Amino acid sequence: MMKYIIIPAIVFIGIVSTGLSLASYRETFEKEFMLSPWSIAQGEVSACIQCHTSDSMEPRIHQHVQEWRGSWHAKNNVSCHDCHGGAPEDASMSMMHQRGFKGAPKDIEIPEFCGTCHIAIQDNYIKSGHGKTFIATGEGPSCVTCHGSHNIQQASMDIINEQLCSQCHTYDRAKEMKQALFLVENKLNTIAKNLKRLKLFGIGTDRQEKAFFRNHAEFRALFHSIDVDAVRAKSSDYTQRLEIIETEINESFKQLTYRRNYSAYLFLIFIGLSIVVFLLSKSYDQKNT
Ligand code: HEC
Ligand code: HEC
Ligand code: HEC
Ligand code: HEC
Ligand code: HEC
Repeated sequence: MMKYIIIPAIVFIGIVSTGLSLASYRETFEKEFMLSPWSIAQGEVSACIQCHTSDSMEPRIHQHVQEWRGSWHAKNNVSCHDCHGGAPEDASMSMMHQRGFKGAPKDIEIPEFCGTCHIAIQDNYIKSGHGKTFIATGEGPSCVTCHGSHNIQQASMDIINEQLCSQCHTYDRAKEMKQALFLVENKLNTIAKNLKRLKLFGIGTDRQEKAFFRNHAEFRALFHSIDVDAVRAKSSDYTQRLEIIETEINESFKQLTYRRNYSAYLFLIFIGLSIVVFLLSKSYDQKNT
């Protein structure tokens, strides 16, 4: 009789433990690689957000929090005080200059304001026609002209569009830039997608990911020079570097398919054995009754 319970129990434990080990791996991975070093711990209450959304505040004060909530910064734990300074843990002192509160930047201060974290981009921007014109006359685009300030999303080539880029000059200049970025951008996007897929399967991809992020960040900082020739000249360099990463990713996918086939094979053997044990035990029971 016991055997009727033991065999299904073994099968059940086998399946559950495989699932659990995958889940805990994913958790460690997220802890080590997904959380950014900025900001107070997730889940801790920020006095900035609490007060700016309280009922006693006029809608004008609520608006920034609402926009920020859907932003890429919010997803990466970059909160109000990371940009504006101040003390999020102390409601009565939070907007005091003594506690590092910077307030809202004036237009002219915006590149430096964003550049405290996006250093390489600020560097290229300041040296570019855009940056020089903006600093000298306020006429060029600043970071927030193209990205917004609170509802900032992940950047992509889609930002380069006629409506935005033809405000100050013909779209031709912008379009040339878009064409120059095109091939490398496509490769970056494919690699990002494949890294995400591998991660979902619990495959470690630290090294590829680091190499990818470095190239990704460098290339996108390069855009901010708005130097079409420089982007064209470097494109083949980047393509080559990204192809090395792609080859390694393809190798991981091959191993994954192999591993899946192998575990399916093991599982079938296991089921087969269970059936044999079951039949044997049945005939044994029959003999003994
Ligand atoms: C107790 C309520 C309260 C808290 C806490 C609070 N704020 Fe404010 N904040 C306000 C109000 C009210 C205004 C509008 C003041 C005005 O328009 O004169 C404001 C204005 C601001 C401004 C615009 C200032 C300017 O220069 O125009 C910024 C930026 C800001 N808050 C950020 C923060 C940050 C960051 C924190 C947390 C570190 C924070 N606030 C905490 C109530 C609060
Ligand atoms: C990525 C950086 C960044 C973050 C994060 C951020 N802000 Fe701002 N904030 C800015 C910039 C830049 C401005 C300057 C005005 C503009 O260009 O919109 C600004 C302006 C403001 C102003 C003044 C707006 C005005 O119209 O004068 C307030 C109030 C404010 N922010 C509140 C907040 C609150 C509350 C949070 C948290 C939910 C927050 N900000 C998060 C960058 C940021
Ligand atoms: C003329 C418009 C424009 C201006 C001005 C601009 N950006 Fe960008 N930014 C873009 C575009 C377009 C991309 C995406 C480029 C791509 O997909 O290759 C981008 C990409 C980015 C990225 C993503 C980088 C990455 O690693 O993925 C960041 C961060 C960024 N910009 C920050 C800034 C900051 C900070 C400033 C001001 C110093 C700024 N941008 C000024 C248009 C602009
Ligand atoms: C306190 C540091 C900090 C400040 C200040 C800051 N950012 Fe960021 N930003 C981050 C982090 C962290 C990320 C998420 C990691 C990443 O995607 O690179 C990010 C991501 C971004 C992205 C998306 C990058 C991508 O992967 O496509 C853009 C665009 C961006 N920031 C623009 C800005 C602009 C514009 C400002 C100024 C208004 C600004 N940031 C101010 C830290 C900051
Ligand atoms: C707020 C005004 C403004 C906006 C918006 C703007 N630009 Fe510009 N852009 C300028 C100015 C001013 C110059 C000229 C700088 C100079 O003469 O060196 C320039 C120059 C350029 C150049 C350099 C052309 C050359 O001959 O070297 C490129 C490329 C460019 N912009 C791309 C873009 C793209 C892409 C966008 C949209 C994402 C954009 N611009 C949006 C103001 C703007």
